[in-house]
Amino acid sequence: MTEITGSAAVVTGGGSGIGMGLAKELARQGAAVAVADILPDNARKVADEINDAGGTAIAIHCDVSDRSSIEQMKAEAVAELGTIQLVFANAGATSFMPVTELSESELDWMTEVNFKGVVWTFLTFLPDMIHAGGGHLVATASMAGLIPTLVPVHTAYAGAKMGVIGFVRSMQLEVEEHGVSCTIYCPGGVLNGMRDHNAKYRPARFGGPSDEQMQIPKASFQGNRLRFLTPDDVAPMVLQAVRDDRPFVFDHSEQRQQFRELYADVVESCFDDTERWEAR
Ligand SMILES: NC(=O)c1ccc[n+]([C@@H]2O[C@H](COP(=O)([O-])OP(=O)(O)OC[C@H]3O[C@@H](n4cnc5c(N)ncnc54)[C@H](O)[C@@H]3O)[C@@H](O)[C@H]2O)c1
Repeated sequence: MTEITGSAAVVTGGGSGIGMGLAKELARQGAAVAVADILPDNARKVADEINDAGGTAIAIHCDVSDRSSIEQMKAEAVAELGTIQLVFANAGATSFMPVTELSESELDWMTEVNFKGVVWTFLTFLPDMIHAGGGHLVATASMAGLIPTLVPVHTAYAGAKMGVIGFVRSMQLEVEEHGVSCTIYCPGGVLNGMRDHNAKYRPARFGGPSDEQMQIPKASFQGNRLRFLTPDDVAPMVLQAVRDDRPFVFDHSEQRQQFRELYADVVESCFDDTERWEAR
């Protein structure tokens, strides 16, 4: 069991969407929260709303694609809130660049933020958790990472998110002896700020930021009737899974069937090939 009430938590990407929902729900459930984001005004706004509602929150500027920025964020969070027990590596950005046009800066942006951003956020806080004898690491991956063919024209993003799932599942084996739990959240359609603001999140060394509107290819969501939830809908569900030390948390039960059809059944049919080959 993971306790939330009375704990200190960090939420990256807490200035908008799912991260904002998590930060607010953590505060409602009695945690002190560090809202970290690459857009400091958004982080400040969320922290102010939490404090105005009687909770405890601080805002910290942080670019998770930059290790020194994560270390600086940790120093500020610990100085204000003490040892951190809960870390939500949630910051992310998206890409719908066709694979035949995929640029180095686009791929680097996706992997540095969505994959390595999660890795270095966790590895920055892990030593304190091991020293303290426990803690909980929560990664926001994606249903597009668990089922890479769910959303077409999404290669760099799906690859980075699937990488998160592989890294965290493997890491769990090494950290559980230290009382550290891991949970992977795979959102599958939550209202957010990405459609309008994704380009603003792009760090300069990857060619950003800009006010460019995100172009989503028709093929990406054709025939895929996504049911959208709100951040306030999903945040309590995620925190219950954290409290129960669950390895995964999903927010759309209907995506179980898509996981079977688009991933598990495909893998199974290829294992059938192997059995046939062996039986030859
Ligand atoms: N909304 C969905 O349906 C959905 C589906 C699958 C996965 N996700 C994942 O959920 C997470 C949250 O995204 P969201 O949907 O709430 O979108 P959002 O755009 O509302 O929030 C993303 C937040 O991350 C911040 N951010 C981006 N790059 C950053 C960086 N380098 N360093 C620090 N902060 C950075 C942004 O400023 C923003 O506040 C992301 O990891 C996203 O990939 C969301």
